[in-house]
Amino acid sequence: MKKIGIYIHIPFCIRKCSYCDFYSITWNNVSEDKFAEAVSNEIKGYKDRVKKDYTIDTIFFGGGTPTIIKPESLGKIIKTLNEIIEIDKNCEITMEANPNTLTEDKLRQYKDMGINRLSIGIQSLNDEILKKIGRVHCSTEALDAIDMAVNAGFENINADIMFNIPGQTIYDIEDTLYKIIHKGVKHISFYSLKLEEGTLMYVMEKLNKITMPDEDYEREMYYAGRNVMEKSNLHQYEISNFSHEGFECRHNLKYWNQEEYIGFGPSAHSFLNNVRYSNSSDLKLYCEENSSMSCQRTIQEKLGRDDLMFEYIMLRLRLKEGLNIKTFNDKFSADFCKLYSKQINDLLKNCLIETEGDNIRLTLRGMDISNYVIREFMK
Ligand SMILES: C[S@@+](CC[C@H](N)C(=O)[O-])C[C@H]1O[C@@H](n2cnc3c(N)ncnc32)[C@H](O)[C@@H]1O
Ligand code: SF4
Repeated sequence: MKKIGIYIHIPFCIRKCSYCDFYSITWNNVSEDKFAEAVSNEIKGYKDRVKKDYTIDTIFFGGGTPTIIKPESLGKIIKTLNEIIEIDKNCEITMEANPNTLTEDKLRQYKDMGINRLSIGIQSLNDEILKKIGRVHCSTEALDAIDMAVNAGFENINADIMFNIPGQTIYDIEDTLYKIIHKGVKHISFYSLKLEEGTLMYVMEKLNKITMPDEDYEREMYYAGRNVMEKSNLHQYEISNFSHEGFECRHNLKYWNQEEYIGFGPSAHSFLNNVRYSNSSDLKLYCEENSSMSCQRTIQEKLGRDDLMFEYIMLRLRLKEGLNIKTFNDKFSADFCKLYSKQINDLLKNCLIETEGDNIRLTLRGMDISNYVIREFMK
């Protein structure tokens, strides 16, 4: 039996945050039942494609704000999944959660449904910053959300934290991290704010209404955050991800290991049988397309061996442990050191990568310019 990961995109938010370009629409009179029905139909459309070969070992409800919709709708989706592809007993089931959409009652229902990992979008515990980036919650609500989750019995809790926000200081970052670590989170995703075209913050920067921190300060914030986490036993396992031993996100590890997953819901991406494809980023269209068990896809890209090799290097180098040369050679029937001898020599000379046994990985310096290092392997 092969293992597969499942991503389900819940495209609703109370309000759009001013930096976010993930596909989501304002939660206002939307037909949740119609959406849940469409997702169930999409899942059923896979009946003959995957039923016999796979079991599900990770599920990730992302968004958007999955905690906005009725727990029963999520339960219905899990039930349909289990009818089509068997869900492993020890499946990791993660739910992204926004602080002020959580209640104790909802949390208990999530636990009963088998959800065993929460990923709470905290971003910062500085109220001015939260307002500036358009979050709908304050710092107290964010801390309360962690307490509620712990009280409801969730052990595996992640917090999303952002740095590189205009006006943010190193003190803010350290303060935020220490406070949430003290609350008992086991995992932290630590993201550098990126201005995405089409977002409010992008426009504001173009109009000189806000100024982004300079590159050096962005790195200082990253180092400061990394230090706090390392001191607190949250070890880094990926460029932006830190966890206590054994609490690494199994679902996201699938992405970095180039393993298979199916995404359901508008804008969700999939990787199956070496083909990458995605659903339309339009709720109305998505619901129409999945009003029966059809399977409409927007991007269909069959990856050849060269694409797969480059992609694998790109993904594995994001991980702290890097790429295992033997595994690469077995996977692609190739000779990594021969294929990339020039890159390896140049990058080693410049202290951007290092080796340990059969593994090749980014140095701390290499992590700072990971995009450059990865591009070298494209040549
Ligand atoms: C898919 S989002 C949704 C999570 C959840 N809806 C929330 O906001 O609380 C996951 C995380 O990506 C990060 N993120 C979103 N847009 C970003 C951007 N433009 N730059 C950096 N990080 C971003 C945020 O930390 C966010 O919590
Ligand atoms: S960051 Fe999260 S809450 Fe904010 S708009 Fe994006 S998906 Fe919604």
